[in-house]
Amino acid sequence: MKSDIIILGIETSCDETSAAVVKNGREVLSNVIYSQIDIHKEYGGVVPEIASRKHVEKINSVIYQALSEANISLVDIDAVAVTYGPGLVGALLVGVSAAKAIAYIMDKPLIGVNHIDGHISANYIEDKNYEPPFMCLVVSGGHSNLVYVKSYGEYEVLGATRDDAIGEAYDKVARVLGLGYPGGPLIDKVAKEGNEAAINFPRTYLEDDSFDFSFSGIKSAVINYINTCKMKNIDISVPDVAASFQQAIVEVVTVKTIKAAEKLNINKIAIAGGVAANTKIREMLKKACDEKSFTLNYPKIHLCTDNAAMIAAAGYNKYIKNEFDELTLNAVPNLKF
Ligand code: KG4
Ligand code: ZN
Repeated sequence: MKSDIIILGIETSCDETSAAVVKNGREVLSNVIYSQIDIHKEYGGVVPEIASRKHVEKINSVIYQALSEANISLVDIDAVAVTYGPGLVGALLVGVSAAKAIAYIMDKPLIGVNHIDGHISANYIEDKNYEPPFMCLVVSGGHSNLVYVKSYGEYEVLGATRDDAIGEAYDKVARVLGLGYPGGPLIDKVAKEGNEAAINFPRTYLEDDSFDFSFSGIKSAVINYINTCKMKNIDISVPDVAASFQQAIVEVVTVKTIKAAEKLNINKIAIAGGVAANTKIREMLKKACDEKSFTLNYPKIHLCTDNAAMIAAAGYNKYIKNEFDELTLNAVPNLKF
């Protein structure tokens, strides 16, 4: 095997068209992200047909830009890794088709990557020493999982959401507060001005021994609170609602993550996914980890939200295990984890 492995990563599962070049699974040579947020904002959420069309328009230029910023051409890559699920089927197909075309024309190995595997693998980027085993809290717009990462690409899911994903709850609450889309970063920002103890929203822990989550209850509680205030003509403090909502939701994920680590006797915790960019999650988990003498790892903010560098990082770990895919690889919108 030659010493440096260069992977081209492609990600188009939702509303970011992204391509990246990553060396040895850790060193980002380029990570181009074309975000469609400004387009979907007008509709208050991602419109699947528009997302697919935009991916088609952008994919080639994004890939060329990633290669050019990394100062390489397609002949120099060792493999092409692409998200094949879960995600929006039309959006995924654009990345999968582009990756297959490159793999076929350039005669390079093709590696299909599970999007969640990508999010978790963002923790390896730029940190040469970070390695499994660790406990990972995966929190994004579509997923909320507590995952025991046994070794590279080898996972045991301890808990998952039984209803909404945590990012969905953030986005929905932001919408009812009139903050806009995507709601997570806006709640994060406005909550800094609010009192987190102002409103006592419910904390849903489920059964004592469960590592599952449920976020629909708190979402409804916030909506009910806002509706009741409106009916009674009571002024709503948006920062207070945002801070109290965030406090309740982050408290639950923090407690469950620490409990899961303790149960499995693991002292390394990582977070991954778009919501891992959240200030409160980072702050509260860091404090809880410090109290237990656990370590906490999280990717840089632009590596928490969807990007292709994390897909290339996950692809590298499959590459070294010779886990390649056939050119018949298809998009799997409901891909299990
Ligand atoms: O991982 P991601 O980019 O896409 C999915 O795989 O779903 O996550 C997007 C989600 C959105 O719900 C967005 O509101 C949320 O991540 N998010 C945040 C923050 N930044 C992004 N939520 C809370 N605080 C943030 N700072
Ligand atoms: Zn994601």
